[in-house]
Amino acid sequence: MCGIVGAVAQRDVAEILINGLHRLEYRGYDSAGLAVVNTACELQRVRCLGKVKALDEAVEKNPLIGGTGIAHTRWATHGEPSEANAHPHVSGDFAVVHNGIIENHEELREMLKARGYVFSSQTDTEVIAHLVEWEMHSAPSLLAAVQSVVRQLTGAYGMVVMNRADPTRLVAARSGSPLVIGLGIGENFLASDQLALLSVTRRFIFLEEGDIAEVTRRTVDIYDVNGNKANRETHESNLENDAAEKGKFRHFMQKEIFEQPTALINTMEGRINHSNVIVESIGNGAKEILEKVEHVQIVACGTSYNSGMVARYWFESLAGVSCDVEIASEFRYRKFVTRPNSLLLTLSQSGETADTLAALRLAKEKGYMAAMTICNVAGSSLVRESDLAFMTRAGVEIGVASTKAFTTQLAAMLILVTAIGKLNGNISAEKEQEIIKALQSVPAEIEKALVFDKTIEKLAEDFAEKNHSLFLGRGEYYPIAMEAALKLKEISYIHAEAYAAGELKHGPLALIDADMPVIVVAPTNDLLEKVKSNIEEVRARGGQLYVFADKEAGFTETAGMKIITMPTVNEITAPIFYTIPMQLLSYHVALIKGTDVDQPRNLAKAVTVE
Ligand code: AGP
Ligand code: GLU
Repeated sequence: MCGIVGAVAQRDVAEILINGLHRLEYRGYDSAGLAVVNTACELQRVRCLGKVKALDEAVEKNPLIGGTGIAHTRWATHGEPSEANAHPHVSGDFAVVHNGIIENHEELREMLKARGYVFSSQTDTEVIAHLVEWEMHSAPSLLAAVQSVVRQLTGAYGMVVMNRADPTRLVAARSGSPLVIGLGIGENFLASDQLALLSVTRRFIFLEEGDIAEVTRRTVDIYDVNGNKANRETHESNLENDAAEKGKFRHFMQKEIFEQPTALINTMEGRINHSNVIVESIGNGAKEILEKVEHVQIVACGTSYNSGMVARYWFESLAGVSCDVEIASEFRYRKFVTRPNSLLLTLSQSGETADTLAALRLAKEKGYMAAMTICNVAGSSLVRESDLAFMTRAGVEIGVASTKAFTTQLAAMLILVTAIGKLNGNISAEKEQEIIKALQSVPAEIEKALVFDKTIEKLAEDFAEKNHSLFLGRGEYYPIAMEAALKLKEISYIHAEAYAAGELKHGPLALIDADMPVIVVAPTNDLLEKVKSNIEEVRARGGQLYVFADKEAGFTETAGMKIITMPTVNEITAPIFYTIPMQLLSYHVALIKGTDVDQPRNLAKAVTVE
């Protein structure tokens, strides 16, 4: 769940490694470290508690010389965040950085202790370092040693191993955690994400599950899970080098909120024309699969789950196909019945979320008709392992709080819903055109929502001192409320809960008092009158209301009820539009509270462990 960077070069690589870590820091960030070896076979290691900045400062004071190195930013799974637990872990001549979890670490630890190894950290990772050291007593090469080490490991890993005595090569292994090789000229690199290496190369090889690679300055040799030499394609990255820069914005989250109109335009481009959905654009063979779909099972986590919850309303009301949405960590461990002609649809920004990936793998055994993913990262595990991949083109999302991934997923799903409905005859040509019109209006509508930035900044002052908050909505706005609550709690640490407004009287109403801000998303639609009754229930009990609605909804501001009047927008896509003020609200509350907006405590961007 962390970031890994490695380099084999002639020049000094410490700066490249640290620069790479900075770009990966959003993934995990409780400690960081690096080790480099110079031509005299001396290994220098620096590790720090805290962010990459601390490591950067330490290395600035004591520059590291050496052309071969490995570096890591950690999101602790085993052992507290501390310098001793930070990677790289070293045993004898060998240093290792690891991303993931070694599940059988306890038994390996006991075995290694019996062999006389002394452990200096509480991590699961340290067993890898000692195992490599042990295997090297008999293995003919580092590659062979790593091959025999991985046979002893259960769990998930992306790892890179370095030998102090032979700085000409690095050996990397991937199982359950992504790794890419960056190809330079007379130098090669490794990383858990291509983003880390964009300043040194644009040519990448993505390792596949079970691959082990030996990388020298001039060669890359890859062996598959059976130990056979494998040929993996080289890809030219089209990511911008400044994709990981904040530009004029104060935070990545802010930048990403403001990028949404463009992200949506890019996601829709080539997928719809002025009146139609282009079914073929969903993927090779999409038509054959989608025309048979009778049920959609969405599986995802966090924000991606919330977007699935919104789409469920669309699948059923527009395309007439039944749809269930489940959190991946529940789905994967539950005995479930697969419906006939069911499409398993995973949603994910990163494409590497461990639980979602496990759910996808299960689908194959459980008789789903096909597995599709809506994902933002090309070449990610979900994309590679699904039958169909519909890419959201949100661009790199760095802020841990997901924003543009959510709205682009919604647009992608509305396109998918329209394609399915059109193929099964539930969406007429007129309806299709109406949906297309709604989709096309979204980028400009979002621009209008972004104008509310200042208004919401002011409003945020009311929340900063609060400890709790409640978000309400009905229909599609219930999951929008869920997403709003997730955003607020995630970055401002204010306890936030979302309720379907109709559920209020079944318990949560007891919480209402003057200290409980209640945010309601209540645009004009069929359920507006119902929502109004729920608002009255809160008012009658002295709750502080903040109602986001359009003019037509007809709310008037009174004591205890602030109305934020939003522009009138297309009803079909209005849930996408109403997401924006919610994102801005959580952003501004976090700013006032002074929390770490882009890297909130205890979290990581890509959750590649269970
Ligand atoms: C959202 O703000 C979160 N940080 C988190 O819930 C995230 O959406 C979740 O971990 C799923 O990630 P994915 O979309 O990359 O699969
Ligand atoms: N499980 C390892 C640890 O706790 C690696 C965690 C990570 O992926 O950052 O050190």
